[in-house]
Formats: sequence, C-alpha cells, structure tokens
Amino acid sequence: MRLTPLEGRIYLAIPGLEDHLRAELPPPEGVSVRAAAGLLPSDSAQPPALSAGDLVNQRFVVSSNPPAEVFWCQDAWLEPFRLEFGSINEAARALRDIQRNWAPVLFTQFRRGALIQEKLPPLQSKPRPFPWLLPDSPLGAWTLLDAHTLVGSARCESPFPGGVIRFEEDRRGPPSRAYLKLQEALVRCRKWPAPGDRCLDAGASPGGWTWVLARLGAQVTAVDRAPPDRRILALEAVRYLRHDAFTLPCEDLGPQDWVFSDVVCYPPRLLEWIEKWLASGLCENFVCTVKFQGCADDAVIRRFAALPAGRLVHLYHNKHELTWIRAGG
Ligand SMILES: C[S@@+](CC[C@H](N)C(=O)[O-])C[C@H]1O[C@@H](n2cnc3c(N)ncnc32)[C@H](O)[C@@H]1O
Repeated sequence: MRLTPLEGRIYLAIPGLEDHLRAELPPPEGVSVRAAAGLLPSDSAQPPALSAGDLVNQRFVVSSNPPAEVFWCQDAWLEPFRLEFGSINEAARALRDIQRNWAPVLFTQFRRGALIQEKLPPLQSKPRPFPWLLPDSPLGAWTLLDAHTLVGSARCESPFPGGVIRFEEDRRGPPSRAYLKLQEALVRCRKWPAPGDRCLDAGASPGGWTWVLARLGAQVTAVDRAPPDRRILALEAVRYLRHDAFTLPCEDLGPQDWVFSDVVCYPPRLLEWIEKWLASGLCENFVCTVKFQGCADDAVIRRFAALPAGRLVHLYHNKHELTWIRAGG
C-alpha cells in the first residue's frame, strides 16, 4: 500500500457549468484526474480514447496551481492524495486510519467502491429535515481510478457528500422550490433566524423563502414588485410591501436580524444595495443570491467575494447563480 500526496486541488465541476470552472483555473487546467494521479501522461500528444468512465471523469478538474478562491464548483478537494492498495479491506482501513467520515464520488469501479464504502462508517443518505445542524467533524471524499488506485482528500470545501444535499421536500406548503436553496444556505451558516427575529426578504414573491422564515417563527417583511402567493400573504408573521427593494432606504426599514435577497437583477445593483446595508450597521446576517446571465462577470464576482466577513459559494440548489452569505456573530 502506498499513499502519496498530490499537488494542488481537485475540483468537482457543476453539471452544465463545467466551462465556468475551467475558465477560473489557470493553465494548465483540465488535466484529467487520471493524468494528475500519474496514471496517464498529461502531456500525451495522443489523448487516450474516452471511455464512459472518462466522460464522467471530465467533471473532476485538477489544478496544480489553483487560485485562492474558486467559485464555480460543486466541491473542492483541498488536500488530495493517491492511495495504491491491494485489497478492499486495505483501502477501507487506510481511509479509516486518516479519519472517520468519508463520502464516495464514484465514476467507475462502482461495485468495488460500494464494497469499500460498506467497510466505512455509514453516511446518512436520506433527505434531511430542515433545520438540521451540520456536525463539525470533517467529511472526506474519495473516488476510484481503477481497481487498485484511489484518489481522495480528507478536507473538502463542501460539508455535504460530493457537494450534494437533499432535503425532505414539502410539495404543498411553499409556493416555489426556491425554498430549498435558502434552507441549504442556512444549514451552511450553521445558524438560522430564531423565533421573533426580524427578517427582510427582498424579491420575496411568490414566497418560498418567506415561507421558510415564517416557519422558523421569524417576523418577515416581504418586499417585491409583485405580490406573493395568497397563502403567504395570509400568514400572520408576514408583512408585504409592494416596492422596489433597492429604493427602500435601510433606515426606513430599521434594524434587521437577517437580510435576504433573491431579487432577479444585475449583480452590481445587488452589490451596491448590500454595501448600503453593511454601511448602515443595521444588520449582521445576510443571504443573497447573485444571479448571472450569459457569462459570469469575474470582476463583479471578486467584489462580492471581497465584501467583509462574508463568503461567496455555489450552493447545490443554485443554478446559474452564486450565493453571498454572511452569518455574523
Ligand atoms: C426568483 S424570484 C424570488 C423567489 C423567492 N425567493 C421565492 O422563494 O419564492 C425573484 C423576484 O424578484 C422580484 N424582483 C425583481 N426586481 C425587483 C426589485 N427591484 N425589487 C423587488 N423585487 C424585485 C421579482 O418580482 C421576483 O418575484
């Protein structure tokens, strides 16, 4: 058995947004994980014929010289290593010796991978109820390149197995499925509004986010140019303001425990609005969706990422958008 640290990081691309990830990484990028792990010559003039496994494998992008922050990925493996092993028992033991929790992200060798995973502590695979407090213990990830070669990382960017989180869905209560991304953002914050907290929900209609907040017991001011669903309007904890969210002065709304935005708008408009809220000192906690049309503007992404005490992430439930999260003290 031989364990070798690999240089750089391994990124798991977002299905359909692979080009965004590749554009973020400096050349040489896009080396296949097999090549990076020394299994194929990365400079081979004749690229190896693609098998089904290799096609899936295109989702793993290896960068030996990664920038400090990469946003368009479903997960990043921060400390990758290669493990050459003889038997299934040996592979499982090597992973267990590193730490307790591991998630498989397989694209080949599915049967062998399942047998290794069976020998590791089980992962909760059922959809989660909300709210659910994420454990602090680290979760690693691994994949198999062939029957005797595993690539893994004990530290990953996403706290969810392979970057995937599924919630128990409520098909009757919320008027839109957008509630799932707010739930995910709040689980990642490891905190959420407490009963009685004042929440501003900008771009609230039809009301999925407001529904989540009201269910937590918060007092919600829902602002939108279009009215929310009738069932949301009927909730006692919800006050609706028909207004352009960006022209409502923060001082008029007063102190808020949380400010949310899912407004469809150009990112600079949202940035300017967040900066006003930050400057006002009226709120510490934010969850704001940054929506992009066509290609994402790298300069504006950097400006969101530089906002104080926040982080910009791609949630599993985000589409062509990122989420700026700040969960203050
Ligand atoms: C993606 S939807 C929000 C979905 C909502 N979060 C939910 O969970 O159901 C975007 C909303 O932004 C609203 N919107 C767009 N521009 C706005 C503005 N300047 N001020 C307020 N609302 C705006 C739209 O009317 C639309 O309802």
